[in-house]
Amino acid sequence: MLTQEENEMLTRVGPGTPCGELMRRYWHPIAATVQLDDNPVRKVRILGEDLVLYRDRSGNLGLIGPRCPHRAMHMEFGIPEAVGLRCPYHGWLFDGTGRCLEMPLAPPDSTFKDRVRTTAYQAQEMGGLIWAYLGPEPVPLLPRLGLCEPENELRQVIGHTLPCNWLQVMENRGDQQHDIYLHGRLFQYALERQGKLTDDPYARYNATMRQQAERLERGTYTMPKIVRNKHGFTKGVRESDGPEDVWRLGGPVFFPYLVYPNGGSRGSIRHDYQIGVPIDDVTTWHISYRSYTFPPEVRPPRQTRIPYVDVPIQDENGKYILDYVLGQDMVAWYAQGEITDRTQEHLYEGDALIIAYRQMLKEQIEIVQQGGEPMNVFRAPAENVPWGAMLEGWPEATIKAATQPSVRRQKNTTDYRFSFHKVSHGGWKYIEDDVDRYCPDRELILKLYEEADKLMQQQA
Ligand code: FES
Ligand SMILES: [Fe+2]
Repeated sequence: MLTQEENEMLTRVGPGTPCGELMRRYWHPIAATVQLDDNPVRKVRILGEDLVLYRDRSGNLGLIGPRCPHRAMHMEFGIPEAVGLRCPYHGWLFDGTGRCLEMPLAPPDSTFKDRVRTTAYQAQEMGGLIWAYLGPEPVPLLPRLGLCEPENELRQVIGHTLPCNWLQVMENRGDQQHDIYLHGRLFQYALERQGKLTDDPYARYNATMRQQAERLERGTYTMPKIVRNKHGFTKGVRESDGPEDVWRLGGPVFFPYLVYPNGGSRGSIRHDYQIGVPIDDVTTWHISYRSYTFPPEVRPPRQTRIPYVDVPIQDENGKYILDYVLGQDMVAWYAQGEITDRTQEHLYEGDALIIAYRQMLKEQIEIVQQGGEPMNVFRAPAENVPWGAMLEGWPEATIKAATQPSVRRQKNTTDYRFSFHKVSHGGWKYIEDDVDRYCPDRELILKLYEEADKLMQQQA
């Protein structure tokens, strides 16, 4: 439980707030690159600030204040020129540093333009996303993210806009216990209400609930554990009656708000980042950044653009979409309210990781308040290396289990992603189970999985 003051301090991200000041030490995604394809000028909002993002005709990105300093015309209607964005009202031209380059209707000897500036922030492109830095100078390096770099993988970016505060999304990253009911029982119920529930024993929801029934019968439960490291933390769970040194690891968390669900450590055919970007105090842009890998014999086509799709949380009838894994995670975030009232919560043993994350957040806020540099701000290229599974601090047996390449085991539902292209008992493809079903290149991914599957069968 937090006090009202603590809850405010940890959640609010606007300018001048303690958490907002911390957040301003980091780069944040503000758009997908392809969102500028149709229209090179776009309204964006980040950390409670309204801005206009544009690409000028030389290809430079600019991120400037939303209104023209002359008479408040919205720069969303601006015209990209060879350099900078021109206000369509009286033609004032601004560059990406906020300077006014031209005031074409002023007398030729006027120096007024040299005294007018607009707000401007840095914007850079990486891996199909455009990132912004709104903090004090010197500007740190854009952190290198491993999944943004490989050339021979198929990447897909899926976005959801959620009506809730970023911390609710983040706290779920440390919640290892929700899997059972949220992705098991709720999944079954959502399908039951649609008349789609099946008895397929390998379907994720049935397997999860079967395991839970066995646990209840044995009188055991799952225990969470967190290990902090220099970038954030890793987390694991184990059965209370299982070996003490074998934890099933969840994805590492990279402070402040990025998680790498399978940590890239298990030879998986799909890797993803989940990124919960604070748009303002009550809106989070959730980015599911996915990278599909295939055996060397199966070559995906070379991607010149990384596709992006915006997916709603409700269907055309206004019903919340709950029949896939990320949809279930998301309802747990926004259904806590816009900013959940943490003075009313009752935390139990299973919430150890939530408490640990809040502690880390509080520490980092204090570091900034005392004039220090928070974690994960990189200035030297040598420090800025893509982080991996971050396994340090875990027992050897846990690391061994986490790094063994996963083998294709059709009967093991933890590997259900290998079966994405297959059809379950109810007649729907396994890919429907997760957010992958919304991938712009979904049919291509299924085709490539099928090829990979055939290849593996030949090799077996
Ligand atoms: S309002 Fe922008 S130039 Fe006049
Ligand atoms: Fe989840």
